[in-house]
Amino acid sequence: MTTYRIASIGGDGVGPEVVAGARAVLDAVAARDGFAIDWLDVVAGGAAIDAYGSALRTDDLDAVATCDAVLLGAVGGPRWDDPDAMVRPEQALFALRGGLELFANLRPVTILPALVPSSPVRPEVLEGVDLLIVRELTSGLYFGRPSEQRDTPEGRVGIDTLWYTEGEIRRVVRLAFELARGRRGRLTSVDKANVLATSRLWRKVVEEVRPEYPGVEVNHQLVDSCAMLLVRRPSSFDVLVTENLFGDILSDEAAVLAGSLGMLPSASVGDRRTEHGRFGLYEPIHGSAPDIAGRDLANPAGTILSAAMLLRWSLGLDAAAVSVEAAVAAAIDDGYRTADLVPSDGDRTGLTVVGTRAMTVAIIERLGVSVAAAT
Ligand code: IPM
Ligand code: MG
Repeated sequence: MTTYRIASIGGDGVGPEVVAGARAVLDAVAARDGFAIDWLDVVAGGAAIDAYGSALRTDDLDAVATCDAVLLGAVGGPRWDDPDAMVRPEQALFALRGGLELFANLRPVTILPALVPSSPVRPEVLEGVDLLIVRELTSGLYFGRPSEQRDTPEGRVGIDTLWYTEGEIRRVVRLAFELARGRRGRLTSVDKANVLATSRLWRKVVEEVRPEYPGVEVNHQLVDSCAMLLVRRPSSFDVLVTENLFGDILSDEAAVLAGSLGMLPSASVGDRRTEHGRFGLYEPIHGSAPDIAGRDLANPAGTILSAAMLLRWSLGLDAAAVSVEAAVAAAIDDGYRTADLVPSDGDRTGLTVVGTRAMTVAIIERLGVSVAAAT
């Protein structure tokens, strides 16, 4: 029997609850399909600051690197938000992303028809939305140095550095081209080339890579107009590729289309392969939601769908991934809703409003659902 080793990082706030849900789903899939998972529990984020004084210990990062994949909940919370603090929970994310060279963050946005009433966007605008944001994750303003505050004769100065090497741009752009080729063949590269030198380099690199993928149609879009088009005509997008900060902002914006941040998964991958697939880190796109933490209120679907991406990308188990996605869709179709998914008009007719655990159970019960029946 194959045994996969997966690092499990609950983190802070609702993180441990949604990770528990996704683990239960993966364990159920393992039992159904006859493989085993060896879970490695790792403490990171605010929880690790409290326990060890650092957001992620070096030994833990090394141990995570030996696994096939990482499942993560969320990190951060008001307790650790002091702007002058030297250690911050988010440092765990940057250590994982940078330390494991996970340079591409993939954020697919699809809309389950049953959730259209939960979105603030008009139904006709949502029709046909199926897009994938590929966000560069290990460079740009998040990692550029210097990044600091200084006292100067003009008063305090804050500095961040926007820096990209052509190699950093090329590897993420190539992956985006590859993904576009496997989808509808349309790639939108998002930048701010009318202002930023890094964006002008980004555009050049996209044009240099383009001939390698003749079947992919490319267009360049400025980030401000892209932000507008994402709510105006979201169905016109297939794959978007962009630098770190633009991708952070646009992916939250795109998430609104799906009705709730709680539904959306993400995968962070690099070039490293294990014997089973591409090493990667999988997490929902929502944060630690400290206001609802520990109350069985969080939507586990984003993390469970991230676990589906883990099955597909890191373990090479595509059919299992599809079955998890189908089970989530079936639970939603059957009316199960966590609080975040109650329609904006408050109408609960035909819906069963449940907590994190009951939603997880509803999904696990539907894991036998055949793909054909669920779509
Ligand atoms: C994300 C989050 C993080 C980011 C925060 C928590 C540092 O917003 O994963 O999108 O900005 O990358
Ligand atoms: Mg973000």
